[in-house]
Amino acid sequence: MFKAFHNTSTFIYNKPLNTPFLGGIRLFSKSKVSFKKDSPELPINTIEEHIQAHKQEKFGVVYDKKPFKILLKANKNYSWCVCGQSKNQPFCDGTHKNPFMKIELKPVRFQVAEEKEYYLCNCKQTTHRPFCDGTHKRDDIQEKIKH
Ligand code: FES
Repeated sequence: MFKAFHNTSTFIYNKPLNTPFLGGIRLFSKSKVSFKKDSPELPINTIEEHIQAHKQEKFGVVYDKKPFKILLKANKNYSWCVCGQSKNQPFCDGTHKNPFMKIELKPVRFQVAEEKEYYLCNCKQTTHRPFCDGTHKRDDIQEKIKH
């Protein structure tokens, strides 16, 4: 059975093995999702070598259980919210600087090489910050947000 991507919230679970999907996410078996971290199909942060924030060990709170599809301009600076507390998701609004919230996480600055639509992680658990890598499909993440 094949389900189309629906409002960026429903994902394919019965797609043929090793079929490209969502710019680099590959589905290997029913209800199991995997990806190739260094796949050329995954989007690249073109300034990653100049930053450290994408290497932070901790993860933010789950903001949503699905990625955010957005048109990004080439070579423009963006700042992706890591902590999950921004009111301007998926981007940083400076909330992490509020001393009363005691947030240790910093946003990830990024650029893309090509103007097109990208899926930015909104569950804040991706291992390919700031891009969705399919991690949001984990049961524990899906169960955190019920809507
Ligand atoms: S929204 Fe897909 S990995 Fe976070």
